[in-house]
Amino acid sequence: MTEAATGHYSVMADEMEGYLLSEASGAGHGAYCDCTAGEGGYARRILRRTSGSTVIAIDCDRAALDRCRRRLSEFRGRVQYFHGSFSKIADATSGHLPLAGIVADLGLSRLQLADAERGFSFRLEGPLDMRFDRSQELRAADLVNRGGERELANLLFRLADERFSRRIARAVMRARPVRDTTHLAQIVAAAVPRRGHRRIHAATRTFQALRMAVNDELGALGALLELAPGLLAPGGRFVVVSFHSGEDRMVKHSFRRHAAAGIYKLLTRRVVRPSADEVKRNPPSRSARLRAACRTGQEFPIK
Ligand SMILES: C[S@@+](CC[C@H](N)C(=O)[O-])C[C@H]1O[C@@H](n2cnc3c(N)ncnc32)[C@H](O)[C@@H]1O
Repeated sequence: MTEAATGHYSVMADEMEGYLLSEASGAGHGAYCDCTAGEGGYARRILRRTSGSTVIAIDCDRAALDRCRRRLSEFRGRVQYFHGSFSKIADATSGHLPLAGIVADLGLSRLQLADAERGFSFRLEGPLDMRFDRSQELRAADLVNRGGERELANLLFRLADERFSRRIARAVMRARPVRDTTHLAQIVAAAVPRRGHRRIHAATRTFQALRMAVNDELGALGALLELAPGLLAPGGRFVVVSFHSGEDRMVKHSFRRHAAAGIYKLLTRRVVRPSADEVKRNPPSRSARLRAACRTGQEFPIK
């Protein structure tokens, strides 16, 4: 299926493929872990380029994993699916270690955003849900309608650098109960000063922060960054695509720290951004940032 047919574009797929599967990585054999299988775009690239490989496809959204399974049906036998967080990568990949490569494409997909029932979009009326994993209890409504004002303000500031976090939190407290996504978007828009040419919608940061909190996205990334070096074979590659400056910072620091300890060789000295052509074809890709590292032969953890 083409990207246009599925309504989903895999961001920086050529760059991901270049770093994950270059000649130097010994592509073609072994097991690769796609931590965020989503619509299967990255996994398909890996499977096509490497005839002898296995892909472990992880996603904590069961509906996404089911779509991925259908889309990759032609590769049956070469893909293993794991429903859960990539913070459980050690469980998901046991039996396939050490890995030839790990890739993570953080955040949410366009299909998830476009599904009003999931509650990710401030443009579509839907429940205040925002869970990737729908078997989880915590939803955005719990943070918005039950949490304290200070807690909400801190969350908006910490996870999305929202400069009007206090005003927004106060407005939310006054308006409670907040009914749904569009109600929340209206409350936020009314709480922040109007500006002539705002680059992004007033509610963008609030929705991003709530989604990240509901899914503990920084916590999961932190766990993955710590576990990855212990799972990769010497020469194995680790590629991370993020859309959030806080996430990119975590990746940068982890890669540098492990490089200083001799565990990684950095493949990207500077962050890699999508080409102008890609941004034109797929505007949401504009905030993507890619970093890659290669596992050395150094023992891990170092005693
Ligand atoms: C941007 S999409 C990935 C798209 C994919 N690279 C492709 O080419 O189709 C991100 C996916 O990661 C999943 N996800 C986000 N956080 C996760 C986590 N902690 N563990 C597992 N999956 C996660 C989301 O459910 C979503 O399906």
